[in-house]
Amino acid sequence: MDREIIPNHVAIIMDGNGRWAKRRNLPRSLGHKAGSENLKKLGLHIFKCGVRVLSVYAFSTENFKRSPEEVSYLMDLFVKNFKRELKVFIDNNIRVVFSGRREPLRHDVLEAMDEVVEATRENTAGIFNICLNYGSQYEIIDAVRRIVEEKKDVSELTPKEFEKYLYQDLPPVDFLIRTSGEYRLSNFMMYQLAYAEFYFTDCLFPDFDDKKFDEALKIFQSRDRRFGGVKK
Ligand code: FPP
Repeated sequence: MDREIIPNHVAIIMDGNGRWAKRRNLPRSLGHKAGSENLKKLGLHIFKCGVRVLSVYAFSTENFKRSPEEVSYLMDLFVKNFKRELKVFIDNNIRVVFSGRREPLRHDVLEAMDEVVEATRENTAGIFNICLNYGSQYEIIDAVRRIVEEKKDVSELTPKEFEKYLYQDLPPVDFLIRTSGEYRLSNFMMYQLAYAEFYFTDCLFPDFDDKKFDEALKIFQSRDRRFGGVKK
């Protein structure tokens, strides 16, 4: 595929795990398990297509409102996956970073996160940004707090400089995908999505496979991106 029209940064709101399970009369937890298995395959495919940065919404600050059982299942799933997939990240030269607040994540979750970040720090083929206990509004508030703490002169502050204070200093998102037929941002990467192309699909996340991603990519490639300029 033409390198020029591959988005540099893809972001995915992985929605619909619960409904995927419900349709099969399974507990919600098995929907999350299927989602995590899909993410592994899909993520590798996305990097193979030439995408350099992949951001995924794994757990929002608001997701703590779910039942303690579901939250605990998801946290266990994260720990298990970060440990189990470490070799996959290393073998594929993928650097893992996290976006989100550390409080009130469990100690074992933080430990597994720190371990994968440390072990992949020098990897260069791609960046996998996992948004965990993440909320865009808090990200912007936390950035402002850091700027105030540094007593930075903000009179000449530019959008580019502000980016450096976000959880991760990543390039802007080019392509946002949300699965499961919901048409919301749900507090996801609002600053980074300023000029992103949006793609919504009814497909539930565990079913959003490589082929479905390739279809979405074709739609991205047909879009006319002007970044606020005029049509040529
Ligand atoms: C939204 O579906 C999904 C989540 C809140 C969890 C997403 C997590 C994964 C796919 C696992 C990722 C694993 C790693 C290792 C990063 P939902 O539960 O809101 O579904 P529903 O809207 O159908 O109820």
